[in-house]
Amino acid sequence: MCVFSIFVKPENVSSSLYLCSQGPDPSLAYRPNLKTNETKEKEGYRNFESGDLIDRVFNTYKLMHTHQTVDFVNQMNSVWTGCSHTKLGMMDAIMSLDQLVDESDPDVDFPNSYHAFQTAEGIRQAHPDNDWFHLVGLIHDVGKTMALWDVPQWAVVGDTFPVGCQYQNSIVFRDNSFMDNPDEKNSRYNTEFGIYEPNCGLDKVHMSWGHDEYLYRVLRFNNCSIPEEGLYMIRFHSFYPWHSHGDYMHLCNEKDLRLLPWVQEFNKFDLYTKTTELPDVDKLKPYYQSLIDKYCPGILKW
Ligand SMILES: [Fe+2]
Ligand SMILES: [Fe+2]
Repeated sequence: MCVFSIFVKPENVSSSLYLCSQGPDPSLAYRPNLKTNETKEKEGYRNFESGDLIDRVFNTYKLMHTHQTVDFVNQMNSVWTGCSHTKLGMMDAIMSLDQLVDESDPDVDFPNSYHAFQTAEGIRQAHPDNDWFHLVGLIHDVGKTMALWDVPQWAVVGDTFPVGCQYQNSIVFRDNSFMDNPDEKNSRYNTEFGIYEPNCGLDKVHMSWGHDEYLYRVLRFNNCSIPEEGLYMIRFHSFYPWHSHGDYMHLCNEKDLRLLPWVQEFNKFDLYTKTTELPDVDKLKPYYQSLIDKYCPGILKW
């Protein structure tokens, strides 16, 4: 099934924003108008109110918040979680992110593979003994490869949130981006619990479709041996309304609360290692290949 058959472009959105990124010239990694630099303060990240990239960011979220519904998430699950799209080794998947600039990210404007190594190296410095954690830093965004396979960025990147229950206030652009979402007006879905039981656990919650859930499914499908904590970080690292704003606790069970501090620890490195000091990828590759060989070896099904 062609995933495009279930997407409809809103009339007020340009085709270039609607269609997935074809990828920038790699030289753009050094473009002078990058939004970050080595001295950026923590409160300067995730600014969704102003900045050079804000129109691009808002348009991506407007599309996401219009089209991510229960039906859409179910369709994407059935298309992607069988991992029948392609076969690819993990390092090749990471390097393919060189063709991708994340249109939802207000902080960086350089290819995603640099962000992978920056995150991994930040974790490696702070947690030298947890090698699986280093690998999680490296691969956490690899699910964004979907954007290179004809999936629009609004179904790949950005923050995630549950569908099937009320969209809560901490979701970015909550006030001005959900008005065209059909679930917003559906009485089955627009209550506090919607289709869920109290404290049912996030494992039972349908999250908006994106790179978190996709990579989690790929790793499970291929029987990768990354520990539960690592898989959980991957699956929920973009769920900012929960891990950074404390929303949706009424859906969480004991396991979610036990693993939340791991997600929050991971988030520090996902966010604050974004600098314009780009890592020497060739030098770092042998170490990370050894982790791939240990935890998710060989050719994987995607
Ligand atoms: Fe991510
Ligand atoms: Fe990331």
